[in-house]
Amino acid sequence: MKNTHLINHPLVQHKLTIMRDKNTGTKQFRELSKELSQLLGYEAMRHLTNSYMEIDTPLTKMSAPTLSGKKLALIPILRAGLVMSDAIADFVPHAKIGHIGLYRDPETHLPIEYYSKFPTELDLCEVFVLDPMLATGGSAIAALSILKEHGAKNIKFVCFLAAPEGIAKLHESHPDVDIYTAAIDEKLNENSYIVPGLGDAGDRIFGTK
Ligand code: PRP
Ligand code: URA
Repeated sequence: MKNTHLINHPLVQHKLTIMRDKNTGTKQFRELSKELSQLLGYEAMRHLTNSYMEIDTPLTKMSAPTLSGKKLALIPILRAGLVMSDAIADFVPHAKIGHIGLYRDPETHLPIEYYSKFPTELDLCEVFVLDPMLATGGSAIAALSILKEHGAKNIKFVCFLAAPEGIAKLHESHPDVDIYTAAIDEKLNENSYIVPGLGDAGDRIFGTK
């Protein structure tokens, strides 16, 4: 699918399988969520560029590559996205972190916004929107629209699992936003849950019901 990057590395797929298993408990699910987030974040940052700086190794001087260019902004969609920003920030500690609070109305499945706070100069940032699940696409589309209203221009969306319906809707509303996902599942069920899926990501990460 255009603009969709399926990260089908065997290690990613192995971790995702354990997460899908309903017998995997909260502790292991949270640990695997962090590891998967880092592997997906690593792929989503592949386009970043290096500039060169002069350093002294113990043996000699060298011109060595360092991250250059735009500032990084990690934007988790609350609450399930929090585990992703925590994990990815461990390897890009200079990234700024903003938050968007959205939850799906249990009846309509439409996203309700309850919070947002962003770093300054979003227009100058490489923005990574983080949410484990892209189901109907409603939450992601709303988050991206809010971010664009605040000036964000270069945005990528990173998730663990995506439904074909969510991918199609997101591309329709935000064709400029690339999606990075570990799997594209079969469908949504009557409650707009991803099938086969992994259940409710927030509940499994935080041990709630
Ligand atoms: C989940 C998930 C996404 C959203 C995806 O959040 O983390 O944000 O649903 O569904 P959509 O693509 O149909 O919008 P939820 O509303 O359960 O909130 P939570 O993170 O607080 O559990
Ligand atoms: N949100 C989730 O956490 N899981 C789904 O399958 C769909 C939306």
